Amino acid sequence: MKKGKVDALLGIVFGDEGKGKVVDVFTPKYDIVARFAGGPNAGHTIIFEGKKFVLRSIPSGIFAEDKVNIIGNGCVIAPDLFMQEARELESAGYDLRSRLHISRRAHLILPTHRVLDRAYEAAKGKNKVGTTGKGIGPTYSEKASRTGLRVGDILENFDQKYQALKARHEETLRHLGYTDYDITDEERLWMEGVEYMRSFPLTDTEVEINRALAEGKSVLAEGAQGTMLDIDHGTYPFVSSSSTVCGGVCTGLGVPPSAIGEVFGIFKAYSTRVGAGPFPVELFDETGDRIREIGHEYGAVTGRNRRCGWVDLVALRYAIMVNGVTQLIMMKSDVLDTFPTIKACVAYEKDGVQTTDMPYDTEGWQAVYEELPGWQTDLTRMTSEADFPQAFKDYVDYLERQLGVPITILSVGPDRAQTIIRG
Ligand code: IMP
Repeated sequence: MKKGKVDALLGIVFGDEGKGKVVDVFTPKYDIVARFAGGPNAGHTIIFEGKKFVLRSIPSGIFAEDKVNIIGNGCVIAPDLFMQEARELESAGYDLRSRLHISRRAHLILPTHRVLDRAYEAAKGKNKVGTTGKGIGPTYSEKASRTGLRVGDILENFDQKYQALKARHEETLRHLGYTDYDITDEERLWMEGVEYMRSFPLTDTEVEINRALAEGKSVLAEGAQGTMLDIDHGTYPFVSSSSTVCGGVCTGLGVPPSAIGEVFGIFKAYSTRVGAGPFPVELFDETGDRIREIGHEYGAVTGRNRRCGWVDLVALRYAIMVNGVTQLIMMKSDVLDTFPTIKACVAYEKDGVQTTDMPYDTEGWQAVYEELPGWQTDLTRMTSEADFPQAFKDYVDYLERQLGVPITILSVGPDRAQTIIRG
């Protein structure tokens, strides 16, 4: 039997591209949908049958009744937030217990990891990362230091292990002089979440996935965040703490590189970034405000204003290279409907030097733009490529020429129906 493949769907800039909507459109084609990295720092908004859900840790394939959804070993999970998220789905009528499998190797985010996240940020002064405050960095640090707790730990002697780790965290917090916190209520809910998680299949998901592949089944690896927030390839140190790139699919699910099939790179027709760090295309003017307003660019997890700018071809080319992107998906094209001209960043410039390669230190670079005519037409009603105005077709052709990868899906509105698959 022909082995199945793992296709990856990856945010390739700073996240928030609208992956949730696309996974939902893709799901019917796959047997398994799996998250391989990140945790509740993600917020995948999905509108399903008129109701809005924000998924943080649960894969977006959960809405299709016959699919298995996996939270892989590369993820970190907060039991209290997981319980809240899962209960919301359960009360909306979705059966999760048989279809949502959690890796025993995924790491647990403790309440004190979240306090540590805040404490480390406070200690950074001006160089704050602007994290989501969900304890992501401290949990992955602890994984690397080999002192963390994994999901499998909740099955045996858990209280003892938990208390020992919490005591170590409290010690660190004392050293940092960060003592003004109270986790009593949070901890109660967290423990309730641990109990709740015990009723889910806590499995060796890498074995499960590889068996499914051997049986010819197909897997969609759902990315979180984006390439420019990757711990190795992002704008370090202003990044998240996981491998958000295609390589992270292999380590975060336990699948070999030879199992990877298509790599879908998802980006928006413009750029956004939430949190601190270099962002050469950032617009501080009215245009940036207009993009934010029209695109509703406010953080799904923290509600923060997202920083907005024109599309960044330097970042996109870099991301296509490190991920091996085979197909591009452009989201939120309609947000640019009213702009008379559209810009695209083709290079960065600093001290009179230009580069088209992603620099090691992205701080202090200015964007160099090319300008294209806007289409000034409402794209939201368009149902096929044939309906597109010429200026929009030209914009898409321009991006494909610049990036060297076909844009096979275009999103022109928030609804599932507003997704145009190109022939
Ligand atoms: P952390 O992942 O909470 O440690 O945050 C690190 C950086 O990644 C911050 O700049 C966050 O704003 C950003 N970040 C984390 N998760 C997301 C996401 O899902 N979308 C966009 N930015 C994110």
